[in-house]
Amino acid sequence: MNHKEALSHNIFKIISKSAAELKLDCYVIGGFVRDFLLQRGDAKDIDIVAIGSGIALAKKVAKNLPNKPNVQVFKTYGTAMLRYDDIEVEFVGARKESYNEDSRNPIVENGTLKDDQNRRDFSINALALDLSEANFGNLLDPFNGVTDLKNKIIRTPLNPDITYSDDPLRMMRAIRFATQLDFIIEKDSLDAITRNNDRIKIITNERIVVELNKILGSKTPSIGFLLLEKTGLLKHILPELTALKGIDEIEGQKHKDNFYHTLEVVDNISKHTDDVWLRWAALLHDIGKAPTKKFSKKVGWTFHAHEFEGSKMVYHLFKRLKMPLNEKMKFVQKLVFMSSRPIVLAQDIVTDSAVRRLVFDAGDYVDDLMTLCEADITTKNPKKFNKYHNNFKIVREKIIEVEAKDHVRNFQPPVSGEEIMNTFNLKPSKEIGIIKEAIKEAILEGEIPNEHEAAFQLMIEKGKALGLKME
Ligand code: CTP
Repeated sequence: MNHKEALSHNIFKIISKSAAELKLDCYVIGGFVRDFLLQRGDAKDIDIVAIGSGIALAKKVAKNLPNKPNVQVFKTYGTAMLRYDDIEVEFVGARKESYNEDSRNPIVENGTLKDDQNRRDFSINALALDLSEANFGNLLDPFNGVTDLKNKIIRTPLNPDITYSDDPLRMMRAIRFATQLDFIIEKDSLDAITRNNDRIKIITNERIVVELNKILGSKTPSIGFLLLEKTGLLKHILPELTALKGIDEIEGQKHKDNFYHTLEVVDNISKHTDDVWLRWAALLHDIGKAPTKKFSKKVGWTFHAHEFEGSKMVYHLFKRLKMPLNEKMKFVQKLVFMSSRPIVLAQDIVTDSAVRRLVFDAGDYVDDLMTLCEADITTKNPKKFNKYHNNFKIVREKIIEVEAKDHVRNFQPPVSGEEIMNTFNLKPSKEIGIIKEAIKEAILEGEIPNEHEAAFQLMIEKGKALGLKME
């Protein structure tokens, strides 16, 4: 099979010519070839394998390119990288590798193309296109990767125990590709992942999070999380989620399985947002339910204050996984903390003041919070489902209405503390707080508009009631 059309970009001609000058063979391999055959759009990363020195080839290519880019050399790995026309090209010499037991650092020897393909993760990632002038565009597919692409199968080139134990990150990659591409992991591979799941411990959290984010960024993230759970990887990575598994029954009373519920919520929200942080909020919105679960004869199962507990757990989880402890984390925390608020609204008659309070508390996150809560409706009772969705529609309309009228999002008190102090000739004191709180409450309750004049009048009334004298 020849695939010259994959190599239409002039970079490939230049690499080919450079390799001829150095009298070595080279190939484009891995994700670029896979994504070309899957027609997944233009790849921005190109991996080149040279039968010889990848670094020497990279330097030659840089010389032959019109913009003479810099070559970044990673001596320890024997690799080199350059950028051209928005594309990142990585060069490596073909290798025969074996890994030692406790780290990912390989022991490297020079090898043939076949050696190099052997040591790759999956048959679909071991596909190579020849860049030599004589065989330009020829496909080299020793492990039937094309057939696996057609049949949507993830399979390792070698015995899966060897491939996964060589580099345990590949267990996550298998699940990530299965999720992104909607492929099936072949049975021997899945068994090997299950057998080797505790080897994930030698992988850094940063790398694990890259894969988690890719799973979470996919069209149907539940595919990946179900596989992570089934293979036993999830309990090593996100034990907070596996703790949600299971249904308890006492005296005939059951609660729902919050793990499967969570996955439904994540899939639901993924239809409405690509924001990976909002998807994280969906994934973690119920994690506080495991530690707060209680049963009492009177009320049955409760998860008292699970939102508060959950938001605290978000911090520890982010910290453990070395995820950013910045405003993204705070966003996830806040959404988890507020995740039950709109649901309560959706069960009752929606009043203006309840909506005003929601907007006040959620601030700029209110729209994302609504998206989360709509995704959280997983009831199989169509009557309830429609009722909640209709109520949420009303809530969304009211949010716009209330916003236009009262501007309580990112609320700024219409009367400042200083104005209160000046009016009543006060020093900083608790009365100022009491008056400010009364004004805020009156606005949220809809008793007065969020305007200076009305708030000023109320301030005078409240001040008088507190026995304060005006200047
Ligand atoms: N590879 C591997 N084992 C790994 C990582 C990568 O064998 N743990 C090989 C695969 O052949 C892969 C290539 O290196 O195709 C490039 O890896 P990378 O750029 O990380 O992934 P891609 O396959 O290009 O896919 P994506 O860009 O979606 O991550």
